[in-house]
Amino acid sequence: MSKILTGLQPTGAITLGNYIGAIKQMKELQDNYESYIFVANMHAITIPQDSEELRSNTRNLIALYLACGIDPNKNTIFLQSENPYHANLSWVLECNSYFGELSRMTQFKDKSSKNANFTVGLFTYPVLMASDILLYDIDYVPVGVDQKQHVELTRDLAERFNNKYGDTFKVPEPLITKSGTKILDLVNPSIKMSKSSENKKGVIFLLDDLEVARKKIMSATTDSECVIKYDMENKPGISNLINIYVSLTGKTIEETENEFTGKNYGEFKRCVADVVVDFLSDIQEKYRSYLNSTIIEEILDNGKNITINEAKIKYDLVKMRIGLTR
Ligand code: TYM
Repeated sequence: MSKILTGLQPTGAITLGNYIGAIKQMKELQDNYESYIFVANMHAITIPQDSEELRSNTRNLIALYLACGIDPNKNTIFLQSENPYHANLSWVLECNSYFGELSRMTQFKDKSSKNANFTVGLFTYPVLMASDILLYDIDYVPVGVDQKQHVELTRDLAERFNNKYGDTFKVPEPLITKSGTKILDLVNPSIKMSKSSENKKGVIFLLDDLEVARKKIMSATTDSECVIKYDMENKPGISNLINIYVSLTGKTIEETENEFTGKNYGEFKRCVADVVVDFLSDIQEKYRSYLNSTIIEEILDNGKNITINEAKIKYDLVKMRIGLTR
């Protein structure tokens, strides 16, 4: 069976973009793939975090995975920080990564330009991500398009290592869906919907109050054409709402365009808002029940044991290949 893996950072509130780009794909693929999903809490500390907040966000994210339909019987669910091999392999890969190629990562360029005191961890972050993937012989990595460059770097690092030291790593591929590639900010549809956006009106958080979420959709930026047609370049606002609608209903873009032919933007937004609110309400109810259960501890203990055993085999092979053994 082919393998898939993804991770999310437990920084702040999880967005509809995170769900559509990554979690939803995992949910849909979990029946047919050997699946791994984790909390990238070590990636989170590349920027300053309050320790209590990080701890609770981490646990909350596991409850959210479960609420979103990630089945613990079909997925290995774990915390990155509970498996020391991620950081160990990351060091080895850092010693096989070039300063130049890491300097070219767009996310690094973007984040470092916003804060002059950025950490070295922010710079080496993509290498830790490569380790997350390469430890487990992963075939596909379901992500949004903003992570594509990091998966491509992972491929380069795997191939470079294999060429230098002999076949060691499987070379993974990113898995990006058309409608989930990049969910856009509702107020400013020229940027992606992001947790860290300053204007929270453009971002649907999975734990948003339902009426607040409805208002965000109703006041989403559109255009003056009054035609519900998918055209990312000229009608990003409407196309973004179509992407959200398509992702949550399972309808196609064409079906959606036909459904709303002749309707105005207000009617369309109301339907999108209904779908989003139904979806959030279902998740939030499940989330609350998982948060109060002991199942999270059991799941994480299990995930820790499974991934440490598996990662040890790969890391031992890596050490042997490069001469780090006696
Ligand atoms: P993170 O936490 O920034 O985002 C988690 C996932 O959500 C996707 N995403 C989006 N997809 C569509 N539209 C959006 N607006 C949107 N915003 C975010 C991201 O592409 C991502 O898939 N480095 C990763 C975490 C990570 C990881 C890994 C992922 C660490 N190791 C190994 C895969 C495999 C990150 O910071 O994602």
